[in-house]
Amino acid sequence: MGTALSVLHVRVWRGTESGEYQEFQVPRLESQTVLDVVTHIQRKLDPTLSYRFACRVGMCGSCAMTVNGKARWTCRTHVASVSDEERLEIGPLRNLPVIKDLVTDMAPFFDKWAAAKGQFRGSATRNDDFARVSPESRQRRLVDESIECIGCGVCYSSCDVVTWKPDYLGPAALTRAWTLVNDVRDVDQRERLTAVAGDAGCHACHTQMTCTERCPKKLSPTAGIAGLKRAVLSAALKGEI
Ligand code: SF4
Ligand code: FES
Repeated sequence: MGTALSVLHVRVWRGTESGEYQEFQVPRLESQTVLDVVTHIQRKLDPTLSYRFACRVGMCGSCAMTVNGKARWTCRTHVASVSDEERLEIGPLRNLPVIKDLVTDMAPFFDKWAAAKGQFRGSATRNDDFARVSPESRQRRLVDESIECIGCGVCYSSCDVVTWKPDYLGPAALTRAWTLVNDVRDVDQRERLTAVAGDAGCHACHTQMTCTERCPKKLSPTAGIAGLKRAVLSAALKGEI
């Protein structure tokens, strides 16, 4: 561990939905991430603190929390980028049930991926040749724009429509659906467009763009949702859905 520069005053959510913030003092270190701060508290100050992480390098999507009022991936968020007053407030993600402390129940989030038909279904068998999809094709390029989603829940937690309308599928599930709508190998397109066309689907989006502002992977769920709206309209006009 490096030499402490000063002391951080950190308020951390404890308990479930009806919990409260508890304050800790943590040594302020150079290049310190918010996940480093949480880990210090759990390892040195209170081993009962619950939180979630895995990769620590921005790949697994499991470390997202609400930091000074905004959802962020904590392993790639430096303290210096969110706090210039040596103060941090760290809570669980919004719009999801709190299991304990900083751990939310992600089941409703991933249930919505399933509801948006977010699973690939192809028709090829092991006897078929590989599908050849040109990297230059329009659809493959649209897939490239959204396939890097790591399922962190930052967009979902930041979305006011999810707060107002809890059955709304949300930006991540719709981004996943948009990725598959552009996958020329998938054979579930009619079912998928029907799934996202309902009241809780793409038309519920108010284009506030908070998801796109906050996505740590710089994806644009807003653009994908707009694409879904066009695809749903086109399918409806053709009588396909
Ligand atoms: Fe996270 Fe971005 Fe995927 Fe939303 S779209 S779950 S913010 S990576
Ligand atoms: Fe894996 Fe942060 S711990 S993305």
